[in-house]
Amino acid sequence: MRPTLPPPVAPHPTTRLRRLRSSDALRRLAQETVLTTNDLIWPIFVMDGEDMTTPVPSMPGVERMSVDRAVQAARMAAGLNIPAICIFPYTDPALKTDGCEEAWNPDNLSNRAIRAIKAAVPEIAVMTDVALDPYNANGHDGIVRDGVIVNDESVQALVKMALAQAAAGADILGPSDMMDGRIGAMRSALEAAGHTDVTILSYAAKYASAYYGPFRDAVGASGALKGDKKTYQMNPANGDEALRHIQRDLMEGADMVMVKPGQAYLDICFRVKDAFGVPTYAYQVSGEYAMIMAAAEQGWINEEAVMVESLMAFKRAGCDGILTYFAPRVAKLLQAG
Ligand code: PBG
Repeated sequence: MRPTLPPPVAPHPTTRLRRLRSSDALRRLAQETVLTTNDLIWPIFVMDGEDMTTPVPSMPGVERMSVDRAVQAARMAAGLNIPAICIFPYTDPALKTDGCEEAWNPDNLSNRAIRAIKAAVPEIAVMTDVALDPYNANGHDGIVRDGVIVNDESVQALVKMALAQAAAGADILGPSDMMDGRIGAMRSALEAAGHTDVTILSYAAKYASAYYGPFRDAVGASGALKGDKKTYQMNPANGDEALRHIQRDLMEGADMVMVKPGQAYLDICFRVKDAFGVPTYAYQVSGEYAMIMAAAEQGWINEEAVMVESLMAFKRAGCDGILTYFAPRVAKLLQAG
């Protein structure tokens, strides 16, 4: 535990803080935070087809993968000791409806990917996204009636979606929809269905952020979205409210909680870990990834160094892990020592 007050420091030259930085050996000994492959969750985009990938232009280095390719990616990730992979589907626009029925189709793209990965690479934990946006004709995370995102009806749909994912073999459900009451509803439905060990990593403090742009391209939701998500995602100006969200979701049965986006919300990560001491994760979202990659492509920053520094910051802020598109790259780097 950190002391609440900084320890007294004798004045110079009794104390020379540079002593502990004077060699690589001393710097390694004095290092407070470590980043390991155990801290990584890798978000991937899946699509229909076979033996296919397509690049995501706004996320250089990221590709959508057909399910068989996603299985290969999961095998590679497990080989790198990455504990979890998170699946996002690029859904055929023809399957998007106002009722979002495809979301709980046991054979939808996401559920097929879960089954295929768990069959081939059982040791990797498979995480999902629970939100209606990939299946919604209007691109929202909840059901829309007369221009309003209706809460309780959306929760019923999300519960059906969560149960289908659990039945397909998902280990970690990630409700990212920000409807009220969804964690409690999912937890009791999971218990009733016998899915007692399925964990919930709640996107508990998810902000209405402009950093999600490239992701919406990746899953093909940019064109569909009508309006914005400000009636359910949080106002970026608020911090105290995040703690209420976290507490509420923990009380309803979340096992782990997430702050999203990441780097612009490190104060929230710190406050959440400090206040609750629960497993806390940050999502380094698509816009954060794109910004690093774009600046690196211009030769304006050192890509690898910024990648590691950005991820280390989450650990220093108190996070137990990070969802990051850099996961395999950073894992390779860490493996190389
Ligand atoms: C949708 C969802 C989003 C992300 C994860 N799940 C986008 C949104 O809320 O519009 C964003 C991830 C990223 O930007 O990397 N439920």
